[in-house]
Amino acid sequence: MIAHIRTHGGISVAEYMQCAVSAYYAHARPFGKEGDFVTSPDISQLFGEMIGLWCADIWMQAGKPARVMLAELGPGRGTLMADILRTARNWPEFHAALSVHLVETSPQLRAQQAAALGDAVCAWHDDIGALPQDAFSLIVSNEFFDALPVRQFIRRHGAWQERYVQWDEAEETLCFTCRAADDAAAHIPPTLQDAPEGSVFECSPQSRRVAQALGAHIAKTGGACLAIDYGHAQSGFGDTLQAVSRHQYADVLDAPGMRDVTAHVDFGALVHAAAAGGADVLPVTTQGKFLNALGIQMRAQKLAARATPQQQAQIPLDLHRLTAPSAMGDLFKVICWQQKGSAATPAGFEKGE
Ligand SMILES: C[S@@+](CC[C@H](N)C(=O)[O-])C[C@H]1O[C@@H](n2cnc3c(N)ncnc32)[C@H](O)[C@@H]1O
Repeated sequence: MIAHIRTHGGISVAEYMQCAVSAYYAHARPFGKEGDFVTSPDISQLFGEMIGLWCADIWMQAGKPARVMLAELGPGRGTLMADILRTARNWPEFHAALSVHLVETSPQLRAQQAAALGDAVCAWHDDIGALPQDAFSLIVSNEFFDALPVRQFIRRHGAWQERYVQWDEAEETLCFTCRAADDAAAHIPPTLQDAPEGSVFECSPQSRRVAQALGAHIAKTGGACLAIDYGHAQSGFGDTLQAVSRHQYADVLDAPGMRDVTAHVDFGALVHAAAAGGADVLPVTTQGKFLNALGIQMRAQKLAARATPQQQAQIPLDLHRLTAPSAMGDLFKVICWQQKGSAATPAGFEKGE
């Protein structure tokens, strides 16, 4: 990527992020203690079990449809889907109704997912557009939207400019620069356009396209879409672009393709996009409230009752990490949308909260 930028000139932050993320997931072994970061499904099986329970509940509330398209976006190592499918076995009729679809662009992660899912029959897709739309659908994701590229607009001299990444010949390193952004007004909410000097507004056109398409998908098929990620419930200012390597924050422009580059998710934008697709979007909640409402505390006690002493000591720590406001409980948000007019109330959400 550096050679490309040196030869052809600067690229937008969104293009930089797109290239860095796809190169990273094509080669890296990012997950777990030995990798760069740990995600909720890898912290504890409790997380995937709660999502599996949530899916089964939606299916029951919908009158137990005979065919269910269960999809996960960006399944990483496949841990979440493995835990969902294991939980689904508690309702054999539900388990039998499932056809499993995984949206994943990285060939090496597809191989890890296949290994994690054993004899489960799965179909892999590069893009959400390939998901079948002929059955009641349950579409879930964890830390998928944060990997989708963001554009960064910055307020300079009373106008909006866009941040680019270019090569600094003198310092022999990548650096940020700015260029005029004629289309900024189309991406920034009207109430935020007259911002103080230096304000940064991030938007992810790709995330909006995905949310809108998934809104249209659910509006057509019925079912629900559930997305969990770190981010803010309402659109606002802030530079949230970040890189992580070996469990430490790193320079976003250092070693592109070797680090996990993400940005916080603008859930306000996802709400608008999914609604524009025709779905009924429930009020965004936090991961802590969501998991507690699903009964994660009680499930943790049951798990501990059958665990080794070492596991018994670990379970409360994992539970705290997933749900405490000071850990992942507040920073991580949960959004859900379903078909308009659906009588179901997805567990963990309140209609018209
Ligand atoms: C941070 S990981 C999350 C993994 C998993 N959901 C978890 O919670 O452990 C991001 C995942 O999204 C995938 N991904 C990133 N960009 C993608 C894209 N544009 N289309 C499909 N998958 C993508 C990555 O390959 C990876 O599986």
